[in-house]
Amino acid sequence: MSLVFRHAIVVGASSGIGAEIARRLAADGCAVALLGRRADELEGVAREIRAGGRGSAIVRVHDVTRYDTVTALLEELVRELGGLDLLVYSAGAMHKTGEGEYDFARDRLELETNLVGAVAWTTPVAAMFEAKRSGTIVGLSSIAGERGRRTFPAYSTSKAGLTAWLEALRNRVARYGVNVVTVKPGFVDTPMTAKLEQKPMVIPVQRAANLILAAARRGGSPSVFIPWTWWLVAMVLRHMPSRIFRRLDL
Ligand SMILES: NC(=O)c1ccc[n+]([C@@H]2O[C@H](COP(=O)([O-])OP(=O)(O)OC[C@H]3O[C@@H](n4cnc5c(N)ncnc54)[C@H](OP(=O)(O)O)[C@@H]3O)[C@@H](O)[C@H]2O)c1
Repeated sequence: MSLVFRHAIVVGASSGIGAEIARRLAADGCAVALLGRRADELEGVAREIRAGGRGSAIVRVHDVTRYDTVTALLEELVRELGGLDLLVYSAGAMHKTGEGEYDFARDRLELETNLVGAVAWTTPVAAMFEAKRSGTIVGLSSIAGERGRRTFPAYSTSKAGLTAWLEALRNRVARYGVNVVTVKPGFVDTPMTAKLEQKPMVIPVQRAANLILAAARRGGSPSVFIPWTWWLVAMVLRHMPSRIFRRLDL
């Protein structure tokens, strides 16, 4: 089976993985709604799509922590796109926490952006897809969600929560023909990782987007590591005793 996406919303499409997924969807003839907070960056991606001559792009400035705006925006976008068969939730924030740094406001922003925003978007979309008995939801989780990490406490917590949420959603809607894809990348070369000193096995954003869309098109609600070799790392991490894991600079 290879699913064809004709109408898509990409939340977090102004840079990195979301922008690349949007470009690729449009290149395959898809009408894509690009969402994020930075209007100039979104318009830049939309211009590239329009110049490509395939598919189409509409832009909406949207902050995912404005949960109250999601339902009306979703309805408006579905009308403008002419339908919806794919939601990609790629919005994310990541902060490396320093030794002795305790900052609830910062942690809350990560949890809200990476997890609560995803719940706010996937809930009405899952209901819509369940009713029409088809549709695909792709959520960008992370290898970071496999363990509670010393240097990325809020980020790893948000991604662990997102992984669990997407699994729960899949278990609700798979029986109605809805495809929920959990994506767990390792390191991808994007603005988010630009300042990290260590990026083992980093891959270009184009490769990440290709692998993610291939998994989404295959259907069958997979949970995938990007690339798959991170599955091996996850196995080791999952079984590592806590007293050893906490000594690592992760
Ligand atoms: N790069 C990696 O190595 C890696 C690895 C594992 C998982 N991931 C995940 O992949 C996803 C994409 O990350 P990326 O690497 O492509 O980073 P990125 O280039 O920094 O993209 C993050 C996107 O999230 C959007 N965003 C952030 N806060 C938002 C908010 N409050 N409201 C709406 N949009 C918001 C940004 O748009 P605006 O700033 O315009 O709002 C941007 O489009 C994230 O969920 C990230 O955690 C990345």
